[in-house]
Amino acid sequence: MRNDTYLEVNLSNFKNNLENIIKYVKPKEVLPVIKADAYGMGVKNMIGVINDMGVKTACVALVIEGIELKEAGFNGDVLVINPCMLKELDEAIKYDLVLGASIKDEIIELNNKSKECNKISRIHLEIETGMHRTGIRLEDLQEYIELCKGLDNIKIEGVYTHFATSDEKDSQYMKEQANLFKRAVEMLNKNNIFPKYVHMSNSGGVQQIHDDDFTTAVRPGLIIYGHNVNDDFENSIGIKPVSRLISKVTLIKDIENKPNMQYAINGATKIATVPIGYADGYPRALSNKGKVVINNVICNIIGNVLMDNILVDVSNLDNVNVGDIVYIWDNDKITVENIANEANTINYEILSRISPRVERKYVY
Ligand SMILES: Cc1ncc(COP(=O)(O)O)c(C=O)c1O
Repeated sequence: MRNDTYLEVNLSNFKNNLENIIKYVKPKEVLPVIKADAYGMGVKNMIGVINDMGVKTACVALVIEGIELKEAGFNGDVLVINPCMLKELDEAIKYDLVLGASIKDEIIELNNKSKECNKISRIHLEIETGMHRTGIRLEDLQEYIELCKGLDNIKIEGVYTHFATSDEKDSQYMKEQANLFKRAVEMLNKNNIFPKYVHMSNSGGVQQIHDDDFTTAVRPGLIIYGHNVNDDFENSIGIKPVSRLISKVTLIKDIENKPNMQYAINGATKIATVPIGYADGYPRALSNKGKVVINNVICNIIGNVLMDNILVDVSNLDNVNVGDIVYIWDNDKITVENIANEANTINYEILSRISPRVERKYVY
């Protein structure tokens, strides 16, 4: 791990976000999405907060993430929202993971294996309403209901769907998905199946439709880390960014302003080396384009983003020294969203790709 650059993770802000979302959607339950190492924040150190907040179920993408969470001391249940592989079922049962289910063979095998060890495994049926990724189509749902009725070692604890466009201002498609999902829930109810958890809203859903009358839970990810899914959405929940990416100046060079060097240095007369590169998750697309904050001043990156470093034009800084703090993002002068826009990507990717060799430091 490198020790000159770190991701500062503010646990008070994380708690604030979770607390505010819980209040905002009440009486619905919040199932925070803490997959991909809590979107890069380092999940093991977030567990204290989610335990303190009384989170009863948290969501991950992979069985291995669920196991890590349980082993690290999460008190609640873990829902694995992506389909898992048949060979992962033994571990999933051993750790009592709750599985998102939409594949017949997986449901049957889960039942068989649970029977062998005398357990009842809980599943949340995933319904396909327009994401075109995973999930049971409405026209196949009755068949799945009949299947599950005949399986004694599984229990349908939940039902869910996933929105494809909830980050867009036009909420028409999301509302159509919600209507289809409502029909699926009604179909389950007609068959005397009343799952405890009925959930569809990710962050964008929470921000746009949290007051429906048929769901009992929400599944937000990005907003619990304090970021908006769309710059145009109002921050009516009062979320605060959880992370700042911080580095320091490791070298300063005065450059002789020779004409034949102009291409490489773009007119700079003083260049600072900052130890963060694409191997740390900083996008190479920001070569000659990105910006950082040094001594409260926004400075330009010059040249290519390297594997371990960037070079920054500090010609205009009067007083810059080795050891000075560099904010890669500070949520004030430079936001994660600024970086994502410049790199032609989304804030999710910038956050979740900060590599393990960047230390996470937790502050309150
Ligand atoms: C099934 C599912 N639910 C919820 C989420 C959380 O989404 P967001 O981070 O937009 O809130 C994700 C994230 O990818 C997901 O795949």
